[in-house]
Parts: sequence; structure tokens; C-alpha cells
Amino acid sequence: MNFYENKVIDEARQGEVLLMDTSQGKRKLFLESYGCAMNFSDSEIVASILAGQGYSTTTDFNEADLILVNTCAIREGAEQRVRGRLKTFNTLKRKNPNLLIGVLGCMAERLKSKFLEEEKIVDLVVGPDAYRELPKLIETVEGGQKAVNVLLSLEETYADINPVRLDSNGVTAFISITRGCDNMCSFCVVPFTRGRERSRDPESIVAEAADLFERGYREVTLLGQNVDSYLWAGGKARKELSETERKNSFTFANLLEAVAKVSPKLRIRFSTSNPQDMTDDVLHTIAKYDNICSYIHLPVQSGSTAMLGRMNRGYTREKYLERIAAIRKIIPGCGISTDIITGFCGETEQEHADTLSLMNEVRFDFAYMFAYSDRPGTPANKKYSDDVPEEVKKKRLQEVIGLQQKHSAEHTYDALGKVHRVLIEGTSKKSSERLYGRNSQNTVVVFPKDDHKKGEYVNVLAEACTAATLIGKVV
Ligand code: SAH
Ligand code: F3S
Repeated sequence: MNFYENKVIDEARQGEVLLMDTSQGKRKLFLESYGCAMNFSDSEIVASILAGQGYSTTTDFNEADLILVNTCAIREGAEQRVRGRLKTFNTLKRKNPNLLIGVLGCMAERLKSKFLEEEKIVDLVVGPDAYRELPKLIETVEGGQKAVNVLLSLEETYADINPVRLDSNGVTAFISITRGCDNMCSFCVVPFTRGRERSRDPESIVAEAADLFERGYREVTLLGQNVDSYLWAGGKARKELSETERKNSFTFANLLEAVAKVSPKLRIRFSTSNPQDMTDDVLHTIAKYDNICSYIHLPVQSGSTAMLGRMNRGYTREKYLERIAAIRKIIPGCGISTDIITGFCGETEQEHADTLSLMNEVRFDFAYMFAYSDRPGTPANKKYSDDVPEEVKKKRLQEVIGLQQKHSAEHTYDALGKVHRVLIEGTSKKSSERLYGRNSQNTVVVFPKDDHKKGEYVNVLAEACTAATLIGKVV
């Protein structure tokens, strides 16, 4: 799930340290997260579970008793980064033999106990559905053994765990609404590392949003690998439902509406939408509520129908463009971003040109763009040959990036001279005299501080811009 430009996701936030302000625990936990927003959200659950065991976090790994790395396996590069990090921690272990080191998340799930053989310094390997077991697993390690739990679950949603908000600005927060993914895009490791899709009880989601609002938060982002397939039928799995039960289930559109009703002052964002499953119902709900942001992250991956077939994405170029047309019609002025992969198996020059032409048709506000990385065990890894040479993948990626930069800059320019409703998130990194926030379309807006405070809404007239940021004054 990729969206916020400087807030989340993949490379953008790789290696960022999470801070937390829980109890004065005696033991110190250093918790580092890589990858998608779901991982950052999971780290907040882990911090909550371990706070109950007397752990408080530290931002200095030198003073840690326990180091946990919440890992990403989506591309080879993400895994290499984690291995590099473990080398650094290795030197600490030599100095402090009591230090425990654990690996969480998707790389833990992918490699399982192999991790212990490959990385001798690791004591603990815990998959994304086994975090409740962390206290027991840590005990095992303290008893002198290594510990592994990578069991995936059909039910676990951590619904009852109140996450400790890490690295928080006190204004925006994540709420997980589904876990896992059933889509099986052929290039993707997520269905294997995060297991089957399951939805979380809507009552617990609305309660979490209401609690955040009470505590001063003003924006929540609902997270799932495919938010549009959210479905709650009292905990029953989708495939167990009769046709009538399915029709009467609580959908993503219902959930959006329920969270929007928590307060008109609470902004709602969500990620990731899926072209196969995004209904007009969802779009009408977004249009109906001012506090649901006009911003949709809708990964396309490729502009070629043949390529989308090999990727097992479940839609064609035409169907994707039809969904874009529906967004534009139902939510005028909606911000749209996407994900694109270059150099997937068998990609021809024509297929690459189709991606560029789709980009020209849609003119995305923003995109996350990647060169294809073959992942062991995925359907593509088994079925197709990773036959596009690395330099061709990179060259195509540069073309895609270049075109997107042009479109992004044009969108920012188009936003000039207009008034934007901005939720203030904090002080600008570049100047303490300025504040920053986002408009509904997720563009960062910077303006003079005056008497304004974070958590407030202001109307800002955009008077100037950089490639991705609007600069203006409160009106
Ligand atoms: N449905 C998820 C996708 C998670 S992966 C979501 O919530 O966004 C995020 C993005 O990484 C994907 O959309 C895809 O563009 C990219 N990606 C996934 N597997 C990849 C691979 N093997 N190589 C390169 N990019 C990949
Ligand atoms: Fe991956 Fe496709 Fe699911 S990209 S996370 S299998 S929607």
C-alpha cells in the first residue's frame, strides 16, 4: 500500500526509526520498520504487546535489550537493506551478549527458520500473524534457545489490541481493516507472506477511530492490501457465505460511511484500492462525505492488457480506464495515484509503450514506480522467465519516472490560484515559521504559521509551488 509521499511507504520510509512514549518499562526495545504502511501499523501492535511486558522503546540501539526489525520482502532490494542492517547489529551483539535480535514481518515469513541459518545473530523469527506469541517466544530465547513462529492465521486481525502510536504527529494515524491478500498477482509475494485475506470487525474499527478522535487525532487512514474487498459477515469467511448473506454483509462502502460519521472533523483516507473490486458505491460514498478525502491510490502496474493477464491482475486496460472515468465523473477533482512495474516477464517494447500511453491518458497525480524484481515462490517465478535484461528494466523505469514527474509537476501547477482545505500536520522541516499539511488530494501545502496549530483545518490560497508542494497563505 503506497501513498503518502513523505509519510510512508517502501523506499520512502525504509529504515525510519519508530519512537514511542509508553510506560517507563525497564527493558528497552529498539523497533525498526521497513516496507509498507501495514508494517508500520503492525509495529504499533507489537509495541503495544511488548509494553505489556515492561518494554519501552528507545531510539538508540546501543542501549537496547531487544532489537526487532519489521521487514519487507516485496523486492530483492528491500531484503538486502535488512541484511545490511543486521550486520550493523552484529557488532552490538559482540559487545553485549545479552542483546536479543528478532526479525518480524514478511521476510521472516518468507525465510522461516532458514533465517537462523543464514543470519546467525538472529534469535527470533516471527511472522505477521504470530505477534501475540512474542512474549512467550522472547522467554524461550531468554532460556537459551532460538525461537520461530511463522504460523499464518485465517482469523487473526489483532482487533482487540490498542496500538501504541509510534512516531506520531498526534494528528494522523493508521487503522488496519483487513490482513492478507487473496488476489495472487503473479509477481507478488504478499499472499505468501501475509496469508489469506480476512476483514476486521467494523465495530472495533469505528471504536478505534472514535478513540483517536477523542485523543485529538484528525485523520485516519484505513489500511488493507485491497480495501475494496473488505467484507464483514460476523466473522464468517467470504466463501462460506450464501448469496443472501453476502448481499447483507458490511462492505467497504458501509465501513467508509460508518467511520466518516465518527465526526465531520475527522478526515478519512484509505489504501489500497483495487481496480477489480472498486465499486461505484464506494465512489458515491466518497463523494457524499466531505471528510472522506478525494484521493484514490489505484495501482495499474501496466498499460497493456496482455501484460495485465500475465500479471493475473484480473482487469484489462479498458476496464482500468473505465474505473478512472467513473472516479472522474463521480468525484470531480479527485487525486489519483498508482503503482507501475517495468520489465515484468516478457515485456515487449510495445507493452512498455502501452504503459506510457496509459499514463498520458490518465495523467496520474503521483506514482510509485519499480523495476520488476523476481521473488522466489511466486507464480511468476514458477511460470515465466525473468527475461527482460536489468538495463532494459532500468531504462524503461527511467522513462516512466520522467513522464510521471512531468504529470506531477503539471498537477501541482494546476492547483495554483485555488483555495485548498488543509489539515495542519506540523511545522515545516525547512522553516520553523511555517506549518504544513495536506489538501484533500494529498498534496503537501506549506504556509506561514501565524497563530495556527497542528490539528486545525485552514483554507490556504496556493500562490507558488515546487514540483510537489504548494506554498500559500491562509485566507
Ligand atoms: N495490494 C498491495 C500491493 C503491495 S505491493 C497494496 O496495498 O498496494 C506494492 C507495490 O509493489 C505493488 O503495487 C507493485 O507495484 C510493487 N511490487 C509488488 N511486487 C513486486 C515485484 N516482485 N517487483 C517489483 N515491484 C513489485
Ligand atoms: Fe500483491 Fe496483488 Fe495482493 S499486488 S498484495 S497480490 S492485490
